Amino acid sequence: MTRPLGMLAELTYECPLHCPYCSNPVNLGDYRDELTTAQWRRVLAEARDLGVLQLHLSGGEPLQRRDVVDIARTASELGLYTNLITSALGLSARRAEQLRDAGLDHVQISIQAHEAAMSDRIAGLPSFERKVAAARLVKKLGWPLTVNVVLHRLNLDRIADVLALAEQLDADRLELANTQYYGWALRNRAALLPSRQQVERAEAVVRAARRRLAGRMEIIYVLPDYYDDYPKPCMAGWGRRQLTVTPSGDVLPCPAAQVLPLPRASVREHSLAWIWAESPLFQRFRGTDWMPEPCRTCFRRDIDFGGCRCQAFLLTGDAARTDPVCVLSPDHEIVAEAVRAANADTRPVSDVLTPRPHPRDAR
Ligand code: SF4
Ligand code: FES
Repeated sequence: MTRPLGMLAELTYECPLHCPYCSNPVNLGDYRDELTTAQWRRVLAEARDLGVLQLHLSGGEPLQRRDVVDIARTASELGLYTNLITSALGLSARRAEQLRDAGLDHVQISIQAHEAAMSDRIAGLPSFERKVAAARLVKKLGWPLTVNVVLHRLNLDRIADVLALAEQLDADRLELANTQYYGWALRNRAALLPSRQQVERAEAVVRAARRRLAGRMEIIYVLPDYYDDYPKPCMAGWGRRQLTVTPSGDVLPCPAAQVLPLPRASVREHSLAWIWAESPLFQRFRGTDWMPEPCRTCFRRDIDFGGCRCQAFLLTGDAARTDPVCVLSPDHEIVAEAVRAANADTRPVSDVLTPRPHPRDAR
């Protein structure tokens, strides 16, 4: 068994934005009981003892937690490399300085598109200008900056403009994250899934930008898995390198695993070390023994680990099946059909999106 290197701490599901591809659970109203500051301190200490090196403070919007500076300070004192994953709403100059003084190492800001009208429409809130101002503040305070843009049918054709924006902001790293179809994104898949032509054009733009910006800006771009032959090695394997702690203290092998019908594991009841090493949840899909055919005898089983358990469950109802993205999966037709629909000449031009609600409105 390996040790976890990274932990995603989802401090809260509160968020002022309404992104239609949000990876938070669709039953947001069920999550009210957030861990206290003292409980987070204990979890971070246990994470460090377990071997975690990188901590990602996320949500929802982590800046909605009043104690985010205290939590960042605790992480820094424990020696964790700490990254704030934020929409930047709430990152005032004062708060940013407090976070810097607390020892926060890195900031990742999500922006929804290359310009205000589209970005604000996707975010469901006027926010673009504030994000740009916050990105400049991050650089001014000397932090490394990652800009994250979730890509989909509505913004993929503007990828050159997204690259130009990241350059203007002097981002050290640009994460071009093709939408993953879980949670809210799966609900909105018909409007979000791009066409093959869009994907191919975007890839060519990214290849050229990587050459041009080599040594100045790192560009992360992974092909959308619906257009790949084989699935992604989700989380680098179940219970292998990463763990997620949700606002209410559940511990998960990946951020989307709340949907899976598996036994829960919570820091309210167990130590992180026990959950990682012994809980039925973390053991369920660890390694390769759980695999069905065709994964069991496949040459790629130690490369992609059978793909994504959450995608398998959401598309087939069984988390133990081969990820349907894989061309070898007996369920591949489910993905092929969605791809055909996204490429059909008769595809209705649908840009109607179901926005993620605010948690209090979901209760
Ligand atoms: Fe990966 Fe399984 Fe497909 Fe082989 S059959 S490529 S292991 S998902
Ligand atoms: Fe849960 Fe891939 S997102 S295993």
